[in-house]
Amino acid sequence: MPLPFADRLNHVETSAIRELFKLLGKPGIISFAGGFPDPAMFDIEGIRQASSQALIEEPGAALQYGATEGYGPLREQLGAFMASKGVAVAPEGLIVTTGSQQALDLLGKTLINPGDKVIVEGPTFLATIQCFRLYGAELISAPVDAHGVKTDELDQLMAEHRPKFVYLIPTFGNPSGALLSLERRRQVLAMAVKHQTLIVEDDPYGDLYFGEAPPPSLLALSDSVPGSRELLAYCGSLSKVLSPGLRIGWMIAPPELLANAVMCKQFSDAHTSTFAQATAAHYLKSGRMPATLAHVRQVYGERAAAMGRALKRELGASVTFDQPQGGLFFWARLTGENGKLTDAGQFAREAIKQLVAFVPGAPFYAAEPDKATFRLSFATADVGKIDEGMARLGRAL
Ligand SMILES: Cc1ncc(COP(=O)(O)O)c(C=O)c1O
Repeated sequence: MPLPFADRLNHVETSAIRELFKLLGKPGIISFAGGFPDPAMFDIEGIRQASSQALIEEPGAALQYGATEGYGPLREQLGAFMASKGVAVAPEGLIVTTGSQQALDLLGKTLINPGDKVIVEGPTFLATIQCFRLYGAELISAPVDAHGVKTDELDQLMAEHRPKFVYLIPTFGNPSGALLSLERRRQVLAMAVKHQTLIVEDDPYGDLYFGEAPPPSLLALSDSVPGSRELLAYCGSLSKVLSPGLRIGWMIAPPELLANAVMCKQFSDAHTSTFAQATAAHYLKSGRMPATLAHVRQVYGERAAAMGRALKRELGASVTFDQPQGGLFFWARLTGENGKLTDAGQFAREAIKQLVAFVPGAPFYAAEPDKATFRLSFATADVGKIDEGMARLGRAL
């Protein structure tokens, strides 16, 4: 007998990407497909010390049930971390979530009625597309270029569709790698006020820059645009800079939105692991974070530079891309030059035969996909593997 699943599951399907990931176990494969940080970047010694301290100094609290809003000392440390990035927020002004993924889910749960419109970037983070669709959202796609979402188009879409909210990854987007310019950031904030529409800023990559620091977050800039702070929900994460296994994310949002998110979180996981939160709090307090950030920026920066050089060398005019200034991803597009492939799905299948993997771009679009696009992560392969992997890609095309 078929099990009586809820209708909401009809809005989502397992992604094509998961099917591709099944092939990644092939021996000898070089994968640029994942969105994972490199485990070699984890500050294991620092996390070991922090977790020991949690067990030595406050074992009762670290192993006990805790407040849904988050563990007090971690909320304080995250407040200080945000202050170092130009955002003034009291510990009560943020809640701890189980990864920023849970913050996105809580936003979906608290805000989306079936049929509500939500504007996302085209392309955007696949799990967000799936999550918002699960709640019945109708997703509208706003185009992106190297400077982030195109604000003229976004303004028109906001006027036309009156969305429930707009979801953006302004800093080194996944998968686009795009960095929203300062000018466009100011425009987005002004548009939030003009249309009285909530903007969700998802920011897991903002600390992963390779050269100059990116412009301040929308949240940091909101003080200079009157009325915009009340229309912003910010999601942060320690996943990409420290460890995704800790599952520490946070959300900063207007008080009534946070209160509703906390209510929903109560019925979901009650609270994020207190042990993980206590560990993260000790880690942030230890003062090791700046050195950790400097290290990941340097290593990923070298890998991004190597991938850019190798892509040009091995694929030449067959692809176009913008060199990412931070984050974990290259977003490239097949040009079809000299009769070469233009379908990235087909290219991915040819690449697997050459023992190299990446993710085709189509699933990252909530609307009409650009099938010539694909995403390459440079995070987990060293420079030698990147060079070898790009040479294999050249043979696959
Ligand atoms: C744009 C974006 N948002 C959110 C997440 C979720 O991260 P986490 O739940 O580990 O904080 C990711 C992870 O890949 C991401 O790329």
